[in-house]
Amino acid sequence: PVRTTTRDLQAMKRRGEKIAMVTAYDYPSAALVDRAGLPVILVGDSLGMVVHGHGTTLPVSLDDMVRHAAAVVRGAESALVVGDLPFLTYATLEEAVRAAGRMMQEAGVQAVKLEGAGAMIPIVERLVALGVPVMGHLGYTPQSTNVIGARAQAKDAEAAQKLLDDALALEAAGAFSVVLELVPKALGEKVSQALTIPVIGIGAGVGCDGQVQVWHDILGLLPGKPPRHAKVYAEIGEAIEKALKAYRDEVAAGTFPTDAQSVAVKKG
Ligand code: KIV
Ligand code: NA
Repeated sequence: PVRTTTRDLQAMKRRGEKIAMVTAYDYPSAALVDRAGLPVILVGDSLGMVVHGHGTTLPVSLDDMVRHAAAVVRGAESALVVGDLPFLTYATLEEAVRAAGRMMQEAGVQAVKLEGAGAMIPIVERLVALGVPVMGHLGYTPQSTNVIGARAQAKDAEAAQKLLDDALALEAAGAFSVVLELVPKALGEKVSQALTIPVIGIGAGVGCDGQVQVWHDILGLLPGKPPRHAKVYAEIGEAIEKALKAYRDEVAAGTFPTDAQSVAVKKG
């Protein structure tokens, strides 16, 4: 199969086709995304929370990202794989090049994502100049949780204008796409119309060029209520629990394994 490219995603925007992106963190989930025909996978540093049980994305290391991204790349033949650069791994040009290099060369992703604009603009320019496709990430940027605090962003006119300027700056710096997280619906639509590159929203309304959701949120895999911006498309967590209980009960009752799951001595 031919793999989706960053240019394919841009062509989808031009044709008015909405882009569905989902996170994945391992081999079997990546293979499922491919089979379902989604064009792009994000190996998000959200894995710090949903896979490793941390409270934020801050403890995620570059080694974590490289290891998970490599598994995703082995599972996905068609989807474009984008990998997050973790917290404080792209603070300088040198560090950003090293981090992106490990993601592209060791893990084999086709693009990286980083959070913010401003001081990140020269970093985006350098990476793109070196041949690393970069996806931006604006609005709520989880790596800055200790600075920005509250979740929903850009709720007043001034902050909305700043976000639009940041998005335009990322586009000018060569970013191939931008994620927009937790901003008012009207701003999601406005930024999507202002940019020629695809704007992928999460909690940013239906007016974006595409959507991104976290695997565990849309598949009901975590205890407790999913975030408000998520929709649970299937209760897979419940299905797993049911299957595990059936297995436990059959082992207790001695009805598993049957002969079908057992090896017999050859007769004669
Ligand atoms: O890490 C992640 O999953 C993300 C998405 C929520 C955009 O950055
Ligand atoms: Na992320």
